[in-house]
Amino acid sequence: MPVVEARGLKKYYDGVVAVDGLDLVVEEGEIYGLLGPNGAGKTTTILILLGLTEPTAGEVRVLGYDPAREPLKVKRVTGYLPENLGFYDDLSARENLLYTAYLNRIPEREARKRVTEVLELVGLADVADRRVGTFSRGMKQRLGIADVLLKDPKFVILDEPTSGIDPEGAVQILDMIVRLRDERGMTILLSSHLLHQVQRICDRMGIIHQGKLVAQGTLGELGAVVEAGEMSFEVRTSRVDEGLLEALRGIEGVTAVEREGDLIRVRASADVRPHIARAVIESGADLLELKGHTYTLEEIYLRYFQG
Ligand SMILES: Nc1ncnc2c1ncn2[C@@H]1O[C@H](COP(=O)(O)OP(=O)(O)OP(=O)(O)O)[C@@H](O)[C@H]1O
Ligand SMILES: [Mg+2]
Repeated sequence: MPVVEARGLKKYYDGVVAVDGLDLVVEEGEIYGLLGPNGAGKTTTILILLGLTEPTAGEVRVLGYDPAREPLKVKRVTGYLPENLGFYDDLSARENLLYTAYLNRIPEREARKRVTEVLELVGLADVADRRVGTFSRGMKQRLGIADVLLKDPKFVILDEPTSGIDPEGAVQILDMIVRLRDERGMTILLSSHLLHQVQRICDRMGIIHQGKLVAQGTLGELGAVVEAGEMSFEVRTSRVDEGLLEALRGIEGVTAVEREGDLIRVRASADVRPHIARAVIESGADLLELKGHTYTLEEIYLRYFQG
C-alpha cells in the first residue's frame, strides 16, 4: 500500500485554482520531492494530505486513511514541518519540545528521554537550554525537524525544509532527511522550489506547475525524458539562406529551427547531428561549428516555469 495515494485532486479558493487535477503516489520508504515555484500548489497539496483543508474534488488516502474524514488518525502517524514555524521564543529548545510532547500526551519521563534524543539527532544538544528567540533560522528549522520526530512518525511531510537556509546548512538538513529514511525507515514528502538543492536526495520527484504535476519520476527517468524529448544544437555555417533553414526543418525529429544572427539553433527529439552536417554541406555552405546540448533537469524545470 502506498503511503500517499491521491487521484484527481482539485482545490479552488473562490475561483482561484490552487490544485488542478493532481495525481500523486508516494511509496513507503522513499523521499519524494514536490518541486515547483511559488504559488504552484505545493502547500495546498500538503494541507489536503493532512486534512487541514478539504479538496474541492478528488480522492486522497494517507496510510490508508481519508484525511478529510479521519484527520486525527492521519495526524497521529504523520509528522509535519509547516512552512512557517511557530516556537515560543522565551522558552528554550528543550522546553518547546517538552511542550509539544505534552500536547501529544507523551508521558513525562518518556518525553524527557525522547527530547534529548531528537535534539542530539538534529545537532542541537549543545544549545538545548538556550532561548529559541536567540536561534538562527537554520537552528529553528532543525528544531522544527526535532519537533516532527518527537512522536516517531511513519511519514514525514516537510514544507520547504531548506528555505532561507545557507547552502551549508541546507546540506546538513538534507543529510539529516536521508538519515531519517535510512536509519529510521521513514517515508518523506518534502516540498521545495530549489530543484538543484533537493534533487540529490529525492528518490522520486514531481514537478508541479499551476496545480498540475507536469513531470514525475526518478532523476534518471526525468533525465531520460529530457534526453529523448529535448535536445538542441547550435550550428554555425559560412552562410545561411532560406533553403538551408528549410532543409533543416525537413529533417526527421527536428521540432524547431531558429536563426540568431550567424547561428542556427535546431531543436530535435533525437541526435540529428549527422543529418544537420549533411544538410549544410548540400546547401553549398561550409560547416564551421556543430554543438549538441542536452538539457539538464534544471533547465527543463526553468523552461516549464517560464511557461
Ligand atoms: N487560503 C487561501 N485563499 C486563497 N487563495 C489561496 C489560499 N492558499 C493558497 N492560495 C492560492 O493558491 C495557489 C497555490 O498556493 P500554495 O500556497 O499552495 O503554493 P506553493 O506552491 O506552496 O507556493 P510557495 O512556494 O510560495 O509556498 C496560489 O495562487 C495561492 O495564491
Ligand atoms: Mg508553500
